[in-house]
Amino acid sequence: MTNRIFTLTDQDGKSSEFAVQEGTHGPGCISISDLYAKTGCFTYDPGFGATGSCKSSISFINGEEGILLHRGYPIDQLAEKSSYLELCYLLLNGELPSETEFAEFDSSIKLHTMVHENIRDFINGFRYDAHPMAMLVGTVGALSSFYHDSLDISNPEHRQTSAHRLIAKLPTIASYCYRHHRGLPFMYPDNNLGYVDNFMQMMFSVPAQDYKHSSTAARALEVMMILHADHEQNASTSTVRLAGSSGANPFASIAAGIASLWGPAHGGANEAVINMLDSIYNSGETIETTIARAKDKNDPFRLMGFGHRVYKNFDPRAKIIAGLCHELLDELGGDQPMFDLALELEQATLADDYFKERRLYPNVDFYSGIILRALNIPMNMFTVMFAMARTVGWISHWLEMHHDPEFRIGRPRQIYIGHAKRDYPG
Ligand code: SDX
Repeated sequence: MTNRIFTLTDQDGKSSEFAVQEGTHGPGCISISDLYAKTGCFTYDPGFGATGSCKSSISFINGEEGILLHRGYPIDQLAEKSSYLELCYLLLNGELPSETEFAEFDSSIKLHTMVHENIRDFINGFRYDAHPMAMLVGTVGALSSFYHDSLDISNPEHRQTSAHRLIAKLPTIASYCYRHHRGLPFMYPDNNLGYVDNFMQMMFSVPAQDYKHSSTAARALEVMMILHADHEQNASTSTVRLAGSSGANPFASIAAGIASLWGPAHGGANEAVINMLDSIYNSGETIETTIARAKDKNDPFRLMGFGHRVYKNFDPRAKIIAGLCHELLDELGGDQPMFDLALELEQATLADDYFKERRLYPNVDFYSGIILRALNIPMNMFTVMFAMARTVGWISHWLEMHHDPEFRIGRPRQIYIGHAKRDYPG
């Protein structure tokens, strides 16, 4: 660990020194907590593009090379060899589980798959056409009103129970949001099934007949959930950390993350990509006009599913999902023309100087909607799927924050550009 020092010298020649903190991978961070004391100035970094908010051991992204690690393991190896629930254990605990550890974890999760019966009434209180994300953010926030026995955030056992409850209950609640929207009866969890199989039966089975889904579809969904589980300090994870930094309970903190994920610049992009492809396919827009709009500074339209704050190369998750599309669409009966259009749009964009100069590549959301559609998941549920998968990442960061010796409430400063002090007239 080098002891690099940065010296800041102002125009009067006054110098201040700041230590650089180095991590395992990635650029060092200049420690500036004493910047104001030494210089009388704050930093200014809208969007926090060059600002480290915390130390974390959970995930690491190398944006230049398009690499994503979870507790050191590359995402492509996890997608190929792991399961979503094993990845949950890894993200929560830092190491892959032994057989015994996994069995105990799996039993604990299964203990919490059901939700309080009143939650059915809670969800039934929404209009039938409420957006599933509106139902999800409201219902997850309301969980804190049902589980008073695990809200003491200073109690490690409470923190763990809440983490397991959230991981266990998100699939149940997500399926309820879908079923309410469709006017279908809510299906109870079946703890004889694995995590993903259980979610699929809660989503798609009906009491009137036996239900069976293809193992291919279940594996595709498992991989999708692995790919969406965590991603460093993205907007929604940073929201969870900021909400949690005030001492807010885990359910309220995760609900804040769900709210942030909903935006089309973040987790809402998967739904926006399909709308974009649909509009090219069905409304006479062409690839050329779509790309022209994305480049037009007078048009707020952006090419959905493209670009990323950190990846300046292919998002490794997009590559894996595109591979899934190639493998599975025939078998799943997916929308091959939509996938062909997406491939064509990707080729046209990657050949365009505007995107090449800005290093804008497909991100995780570009192809995910095609797989989700092939799994018969409706578009308004796409971001719910993202939230369900990302819950383990959010709660892992929430837990890590509570173990951080440097933990304090997040409270950024500002550059005030309003009126100078003035007196009230009269
Ligand atoms: C996710 O952070 C995460 O890790 C997020 C995520 C996760 O797993 O949590 O990976 C999930 O949110 C993926 C991103 C999904 N969003 C989209 O696909 C929406 C479309 N993408 C853009 O809105 C944008 O690329 C962002 C929001 C993803 C990134 O925005 P930045 O980092 O603020 O980029 P920027 O605005 O600084 O753009 C730099 C330039 C600008 O042009 P100039 O001003 O330099 O001329 O690139 C342009 C932008 O106009 N640009 C785009 C573009 N993305 C950036 N132009 C057209 N289409 C785009 N998609």
